[in-house]
Amino acid sequence: MRSDVVRSDAGSAGSFGSWLRAVGAEHLIPTWTPAASPSGGADGVRSDRHLACSDAVARFIVFEGGEASGKSTQASRLAARLGAVHTREPGGTAIGAGLRSLLLDARTTGLADRAEALLMAADRAQHVAEVVRPALDQGDHVVCDRYIGSTLAYQGHGRGLPVVDLKRISAWAADDLWPDLIVLLDVPPEVAAARSGGPRDRMEAAGDDFHDRVARGYRALASTDPLHWVTVDGTGSADEVEAAVWRAIAARLPELAPAPRIGDEPTAADDGSS
Ligand code: TMP
Repeated sequence: MRSDVVRSDAGSAGSFGSWLRAVGAEHLIPTWTPAASPSGGADGVRSDRHLACSDAVARFIVFEGGEASGKSTQASRLAARLGAVHTREPGGTAIGAGLRSLLLDARTTGLADRAEALLMAADRAQHVAEVVRPALDQGDHVVCDRYIGSTLAYQGHGRGLPVVDLKRISAWAADDLWPDLIVLLDVPPEVAAARSGGPRDRMEAAGDDFHDRVARGYRALASTDPLHWVTVDGTGSADEVEAAVWRAIAARLPELAPAPRIGDEPTAADDGSS
């Protein structure tokens, strides 16, 4: 672990507090939550991951979306572009791989909704402790394919479990680590269906109504917390979506996408012409 990393837990609580405030769950804000600092990050929320003697901040960016939304491709491309740690949930650790098999295997039957939510939370607890937090503490950006938003959309809006409870469980599992930015790839069901192929896993096979609720849930989550979520149209080609994602990153976390210097040639992805 690098010795030049400073963590401020107060910053983390501020991020969690503004999230709760944005979704109307102020009553869950711990009493010691500080106000957001005007000298904080791009969105006015202090980050808990400042590197001493440097303006560099390791950022935690999450991709969310329904089945076949293209988020795995985009997470991989953004991670490569940023030189970030690329990971996913469920299954971002060896222990999590076992949980992923159990959760997604179509032969897993009779799993209670609450058990499903807790297994997702267990995967997240291991993943944050073993992969995400250590990478951020070391100063590395992290790009993650799915995170707490998936639990709120799938187990909350999809299964019908109370979102407020899921948020509390997720916050505890993740040791209050919330993303700097969540990119929602929005894809209409007919486009997702056309992209899907092969045998469906247990979640994919949960039915059209379930996935409609998930899609509506994602839109509701993004619209009630615009500070942390940004929605990108995921219907274009992978290159077009990548360009749109990069524009969103540049707008929301401009330190990750410095303006080109005079004489630098813009790339196709930068001007969105690909
Ligand atoms: P994917 O990684 O291929 O998208 O598959 C993961 C599946 O697990 C997907 O159907 C969404 C689901 N999921 C949840 O239901 N809740 C969660 O918290 C997470 C992380 C994933």
